Amino acid sequence: MAQKISAAITAVGGYVPEYRLTNKELETMVDTNDEWIKSRTGVEERRILKGEGKATSDLGAPAVMDLIQKRGIDPLEIDCIICCTVTPDMFFPATANIISEKVGAKNAFSFDLGAACSGFLFGLTTGAAFVESGRYKKVIVVGADKMSAITDYSDRTTCILFGDGAGAVLLEPGEDGFGVLDSNLKSDGTGGKYLHMKAGGSLRPASPETLAAKEHFIFQEGPSVFKFAVTGMADVAYELVKRNNLTGDDIAWLVPHQANKRIIDATANRMGVPTEKVMLNIMRYGNTTSGTIPLCLWDWEKQLKKGDNLVLAAFGGGFTWGATLVKWAYDPKN
Ligand code: UT7
Repeated sequence: MAQKISAAITAVGGYVPEYRLTNKELETMVDTNDEWIKSRTGVEERRILKGEGKATSDLGAPAVMDLIQKRGIDPLEIDCIICCTVTPDMFFPATANIISEKVGAKNAFSFDLGAACSGFLFGLTTGAAFVESGRYKKVIVVGADKMSAITDYSDRTTCILFGDGAGAVLLEPGEDGFGVLDSNLKSDGTGGKYLHMKAGGSLRPASPETLAAKEHFIFQEGPSVFKFAVTGMADVAYELVKRNNLTGDDIAWLVPHQANKRIIDATANRMGVPTEKVMLNIMRYGNTTSGTIPLCLWDWEKQLKKGDNLVLAAFGGGFTWGATLVKWAYDPKN
């Protein structure tokens, strides 16, 4: 029987822009306050990509470059780049193509994948399957979003939540039993009405009316999304852990999508994972959509050890949600 190929994460890269939009600054823009934002969401500041002509690929490309340099590979060795995003530079070409060009990955095929806040997990599962097939040896999955491009800074219910950033992982064939081991991914189109962008697509192309109605921004019915997210994210993560015969004690790290600290706490509780094993950077970056999970891996990379069980979990627009079990494949490098 042919040996099963597993897909290991072998490097992590990340990038956040310099500008920090603090709760204090938001207080000058909308009717809100630092205390409300911190207690209801956990966010203290978020990064914003400023400057003319800057787009999501300007977040994704430095994240990918960071990873290429850390792993010490030639960009020409990369087989594929998948960019998970809801804020592509433009409808087409794919932002992944633009990133490939910016990092010099001339031999890679590249495409975008859209699954809102679950994008990175859907992309990771897709990229891992490419490696497991034996056909590709170096696949990069980058989650990148310039959420500030679709955020209405006069809407206090959304503008406090989102930020810009990107994180990336490299997948390579690895030792058996290490890498992306299992995924439990879900979609339910009935949830679309609670979280979407109304115009700009083929349904409602941009027009003076769509602009006047502010339909090119994130629309979210926060409490409805919260209700589904708080049970949905915990359910898939719990199921995943159970079907792999693990318990909370076996989990080294919970790596949750960073949408709301209260949703993260509920997931950790349900899984029996204590706070000190939960990656939390929502206070510094807010919700960067596809960027949240790989940015956690980037921030915590130096603390991750070979053999650690990581549960990655997300919930977002669509609805889409899911959880992925990863056995970390390398010890920290100095
Ligand atoms: O990543 C994609 C998935 N998205 C999510 O998972 C987000 C899920 N939803 C949430 O995280 C929360 O619903 C929000 C953070 C968006 C909102 O928090 P909430 O506790 O659900 O607040 P709410 O919308 O029920 O509003 C409570 C009150 C309202 O005032 P009244 O009607 O009680 O007088 C709001 O008008 O808080 C008010 N409010 C604010 N007050 C100060 C809403 N936004 C703000 C604000 N500052 N920024």
